[in-house]
Amino acid sequence: MSEIVSMKNICKSYYLCDEEIKVLKHINLKVYKGEFISVLGPSGSGKTTLMNIIGCLDVPTSGKYILCGNDISEMNETELAVIRNKEIGFVFQSFFLLPRLTALQNVELPLVYSGLPQKERRGRAKEMLCRVGLADKMNNLPSQLSGGQQQRVAIARALVTEPSIILADEPTGALDQKTGADIIGYFERLNAEGRTIIMITHDINVARHAHRTVNILDGQLTEARA
Ligand SMILES: Nc1ncnc2c1ncn2[C@@H]1O[C@H](COP(=O)(O)OP(=O)(O)OP(=O)(O)O)[C@@H](O)[C@H]1O
Ligand SMILES: [Mg+2]
Repeated sequence: MSEIVSMKNICKSYYLCDEEIKVLKHINLKVYKGEFISVLGPSGSGKTTLMNIIGCLDVPTSGKYILCGNDISEMNETELAVIRNKEIGFVFQSFFLLPRLTALQNVELPLVYSGLPQKERRGRAKEMLCRVGLADKMNNLPSQLSGGQQQRVAIARALVTEPSIILADEPTGALDQKTGADIIGYFERLNAEGRTIIMITHDINVARHAHRTVNILDGQLTEARA
């Protein structure tokens, strides 16, 4: 199986007034193509910090991170932005849709940098929205959609560039239980189609839908069967 994520001895510290705050401590993590893994941990344990590093939104203080064969530790900002756009589809707790753009325009947005002609971009965005069951809501603004529908738009947006990984930080955190279960159902379906998914959560009932769970506690990872 091919390795998508390989982290060796990753540490991340923040510095406040010269004081070092060690947030991630010697993290070792491998994720293989086609896996659905969850990272489970309580508030403040370092989940978002880890997600930001996996997603190349931030860089580690030390350690080695290889994403799809690329050594992230040696990349500059521009190179990180390119690899992020190519390999990662993000889904966030608070959706992060642009309020003045329709569902369709939101999904189309990541393709702006792809060099595809506009017609093809639109076609792909439509196809993704159909796949998440929103064919009849394409021209709605985010404010004209329910929370679950907004998260499905965000999933369509994450998928539209055909990334290597879907990286989701508390994707059900802002949703009621039933809507959250629907969203997890989408992830399960996507994974069955071969997508690699890394889902971050503090909720064990959400985590157990993944095939493998790693626990994070006080910045340290331990592997456990869900
Ligand atoms: N920029 C920063 N400067 C200093 N400390 C930070 C910074 N960002 C995060 N931290 C600290 O790092 C720790 C981990 O934060 P992180 O956001 O990764 O936690 P989390 O597991 O995602 O929590 P939650 O479930 O509440 O989202 C916390 O103690 C936090 O205070
Ligand atoms: Mg967090």
